[in-house]
Amino acid sequence: MDKKLEIGEMLLTEVTIQNRVRELAWQISHDYEGKRLLVVAVLKGAFIFVADLARHLQVPAAFDFLAVCSYGSATASSGEVRILKDLDESVEGWDVLLVEDIVDTGLTLNYLTQSLWARRPASLRICSLLDKPARRQVPVKLDYCGFQIPDKFAVGYGLDFDGRYRNAPFIFVPAECLTEGEKGCD
Ligand code: IMP
Repeated sequence: MDKKLEIGEMLLTEVTIQNRVRELAWQISHDYEGKRLLVVAVLKGAFIFVADLARHLQVPAAFDFLAVCSYGSATASSGEVRILKDLDESVEGWDVLLVEDIVDTGLTLNYLTQSLWARRPASLRICSLLDKPARRQVPVKLDYCGFQIPDKFAVGYGLDFDGRYRNAPFIFVPAECLTEGEKGCD
């Protein structure tokens, strides 16, 4: 039987996320006016973010999806990335906006940007909802970033822990992911 949703620490409320997503969409709409925008979302984590972002874009856009899996434990990626589902169409000549849920070590985005540049887009920018800079192993230039968060395991709004919590409309640290020191007694 599944465990019920137990919030260890609230990181970002639904209202905070929605306001920021609207701001990002305005900025992206402004920057991509007159361009040939192709939004490439990384599944599964970015599925809710990209759906909300898409509805606030004021410019025409095409959409495609990549599914990747990074090896490692439930809370730490090893940096080895495997493409589970590749793009349906060529990105050649498109102004590609790669949409991710979170950048942690940066290894996944490093791999994906190299793979996408090799396919000759007209341009390539990165938009990530969350940025966890504390554990970065390779530098990643985020053109659009929703929020920087501390080094904690965040779930909700598309992000999961062991396949769970993706459907929560807010972002939080599950009680089961708090470290001993964070559990406190208040
Ligand atoms: P990176 O390669 O270490 O930058 O991690 C990229 C992937 O690891 C993300 O796309 C997520 O799927 C996963 N990840 C990293 N940190 C978190 C987190 O705090 N919550 C949920 N997933 C995470």
